[in-house]
Amino acid sequence: MHRRTFLKSSAAGALVMATTSWPLGARTRDRIRVAMIGTGLRGQSQLGPLLSRDDVELVAICDTQQVMLDKTLAIIEKTGRRKPKVYGGNGDVRAWKALLAQKGIDAVFIVTPWEWHASMSIAAMQAGIAVGCEVVAGITLQDHWDVLRAQQRTGTPYMLLENVCYRRDVLAVLQMVRAGLFGELVHMQAGYQHDLRAVKFNSGNPNEPYGSGAEFGDKGFSEAQWRTQHSIDRNGELYPSHGIGPCAMYANIHRGNRFTHINAFASKARGLHEYIVEHPKGGANHPNAGVKFKLGDVVTTTLRCENGETILLQHDTSLPRPYSLGFRVQGTDGLWMDVNKSIHVEGKSPAHKWEQAQKYYDEYDHPLWRNYAAKAAGAGHGGMDWFVIHAFIEALKANTPMPIDIYDAVAWSAITPLSEQSIAEDYKTLAFPDFTEGKWKDRKPIFALDGRY
Ligand SMILES: NC(=O)c1ccc[n+]([C@@H]2O[C@H](COP(=O)([O-])OP(=O)(O)OC[C@H]3O[C@@H](n4cnc5c(N)ncnc54)[C@H](O)[C@@H]3O)[C@@H](O)[C@H]2O)c1
Repeated sequence: MHRRTFLKSSAAGALVMATTSWPLGARTRDRIRVAMIGTGLRGQSQLGPLLSRDDVELVAICDTQQVMLDKTLAIIEKTGRRKPKVYGGNGDVRAWKALLAQKGIDAVFIVTPWEWHASMSIAAMQAGIAVGCEVVAGITLQDHWDVLRAQQRTGTPYMLLENVCYRRDVLAVLQMVRAGLFGELVHMQAGYQHDLRAVKFNSGNPNEPYGSGAEFGDKGFSEAQWRTQHSIDRNGELYPSHGIGPCAMYANIHRGNRFTHINAFASKARGLHEYIVEHPKGGANHPNAGVKFKLGDVVTTTLRCENGETILLQHDTSLPRPYSLGFRVQGTDGLWMDVNKSIHVEGKSPAHKWEQAQKYYDEYDHPLWRNYAAKAAGAGHGGMDWFVIHAFIEALKANTPMPIDIYDAVAWSAITPLSEQSIAEDYKTLAFPDFTEGKWKDRKPIFALDGRY
């Protein structure tokens, strides 16, 4: 959205604030009428957990591509739920505006490519429609301020749907941190270490979304249509929230702590070019063999926090490697690392030796998982997708603050433009903006993942 348009519409936002349909605590709801903008592969995977709920009614969907709408409608039909109103198709990139004008929508899931998230979220909040936004919150630093200001002006709930915060081991480790098992936190590591080469390139055939070719952009399908272009144009920590979300919970960021500094380094870029050249449907003479990728294969970002912790994030999506978010949580009394499920606690573990973490996971299993594991079974990403949707819907029903709120969303996501800036300015260390404008000092000292725990 252009700045002038935003300022104009912020005046409308102020009007909405006076009549907001979401005054905290003032009204509860039994049922949430939901819409979805972007019904691609992620949107389709959210339908299972969403439509398994009696307290959710899917009333509208929108996508630019008929193939995605058709796949989505087929999934909905199988569940026996009522057909939602359908917007878009035919490449119409503005149809979502008509969806937001539909009466009777309480909340919208925004599941489009990153470049749409900020403008769609702002418009939805201005329409009084609560936002569940897929990662990330925006592209530029200004986008993040604009999303924040729109939320503050309208009072409409906004949650970043960061599912890794709800992973079972991640939550068990949160319990360990809170119980003081690792002593005082000193250092954390995490990232997005996921070989995405077969996601960034395919043949464009909707039935073969992974690794079926060396095409992207208009000739690709799903994320190859848009995500790959970010690897051409940008160099930074392009996907920070899966890693930083859990670390921010552990460190109680915005609840007595905050990020103060950031810098980033990027390695050379080799992996995506090699993938194209070596792919059976690619080759040295394939037109994409000439594409120059700006994104370093491994981008390493460091943050420092007000209370003295450091956090190291690694974005590593272009080289062969097994999936791992690479968590390490280290304090004065011990540490956990997720790669080999290993833990060491001074005084409990044999000296200088790793223990397998499973017995600790079992002992510290989070109450959310103890209570809901059976319901979450079968939902995407080992069940964690069920929990993030559950948290959003329950907070909306009870009209309580969002568990991952606007400050978390914009700070986690703004790591991307800040890391890009650091790299572009010769790996400079930058001051991290305080989106809370001082409120981090007095906010509740503990992350409440569903308003209670
Ligand atoms: N949290 C997770 O684990 C997770 C996993 C996968 C993807 N995601 C996120 O979900 C989002 C979508 O990713 P995806 O994998 O579904 O990509 P996708 O390309 O499969 O789906 C995106 C959809 O948005 C549609 N779209 C594009 N512009 C639009 C517009 N103007 N109006 C309406 N629809 C539009 C596209 O046609 C496409 O169907 C991204 O933000 C991605 O980062 C999150």
